[in-house]
Amino acid sequence: MRRHRIAAIPADGIGPEVISAGLEVLEALAARAGFALDVDHYDWGSDYYKRTGRMMPADGLERLRAADAIYFGAVGAPDLPDHITLWGLRLAICQGFNQYANVRPTRILPGITSPLRDVGPGDLDWLIVRENSEGEYAGQGGRSHRGRPEEIATEVSIFTRTGVSRILRFAFRVAQSRPRKHLTVVTKSNAQRFGMVMWDEIAAEVAAEFPDVTWDKELVDAMTLRMVRRPRSLDTMVATNLHADILTDLAAALAGSLGVAPTANIDPERQFPSMFEPIHGSAFDITGKGIANPVATFWTGAMMLEHLGEPAAAAAMMAAVEQVCAAGILTPDIGGTATTADVTRAVCDAIRGANAPA
Ligand code: IPM
Ligand code: MG
Repeated sequence: MRRHRIAAIPADGIGPEVISAGLEVLEALAARAGFALDVDHYDWGSDYYKRTGRMMPADGLERLRAADAIYFGAVGAPDLPDHITLWGLRLAICQGFNQYANVRPTRILPGITSPLRDVGPGDLDWLIVRENSEGEYAGQGGRSHRGRPEEIATEVSIFTRTGVSRILRFAFRVAQSRPRKHLTVVTKSNAQRFGMVMWDEIAAEVAAEFPDVTWDKELVDAMTLRMVRRPRSLDTMVATNLHADILTDLAAALAGSLGVAPTANIDPERQFPSMFEPIHGSAFDITGKGIANPVATFWTGAMMLEHLGEPAAAAAMMAAVEQVCAAGILTPDIGGTATTADVTRAVCDAIRGANAPA
């Protein structure tokens, strides 16, 4: 039997609620599809930090290394600074494992309403590739003369030919694998003359390797307009770390809710395990209430199955999620009254039903 080793890191806020829902659904799929999951559970995160002074143990990355994939919940606590919790766990894993490609699909699921007039399922089917290792998140900068009128702070964006080429190549390859074979390269090369102009130049070079992919360029400000006014004109997009961070929140809102938006932090070279997580974060306001939307975690679970070489199970997961959403079994963030457990049970039933012998 095929076996996949999963490192589960539920971490903070609603993370544990959605990851346990996700694992339940993945187990239901494994049982039908004939593979097994070996799940290692890690209790790292903000509570661990309060006990030990670290978000994860010093040998954390070594321990994760043997996993085939990491299933991650959310990080952040109301009583700890975000930059500590974030850099101590999630970004440490992304950077430590060279997960330079962040992949964020967006679709309007059946039963979910877009705030855009006349835009429904099928009209908005996007995949945003976010550069995940450098750019505005490179961690370069500093502060001098703190608190004085002459205080200086720098936050330096770093763009390397290696980093930009590999993310563009990844994005062209993803675009090539999708039916429309179209990529939109997003920059701000009218105002930012160095890093962004280099992006545009490298895009043109890499495009030559993909003659079957059509591509266009858009400035990031104009991109927000195009996403709202001409959503059907877009398919695959690629942008810097910060630009894509912002565009993917817009994308999630246009598809109805951040509660359904998944993401994958991928090491395309597969030297290290990749990490799969919902975008929504820890959501303290609803932690422990049992109403967190598990759909983003299911969807990222489908991305994880795809990555693990289980495309049929991934498709079955999405079919079950769409069936449940279409039936109106929705959590309050998307206008329903269902609990996390209701949605999870319905998705597990759909998975069992979908493959049941007639
Ligand atoms: C995201 C989030 C994070 C990011 C935050 C929590 C730092 O907004 O995954 O999009 O900007 O990377
Ligand atoms: Mg974000």
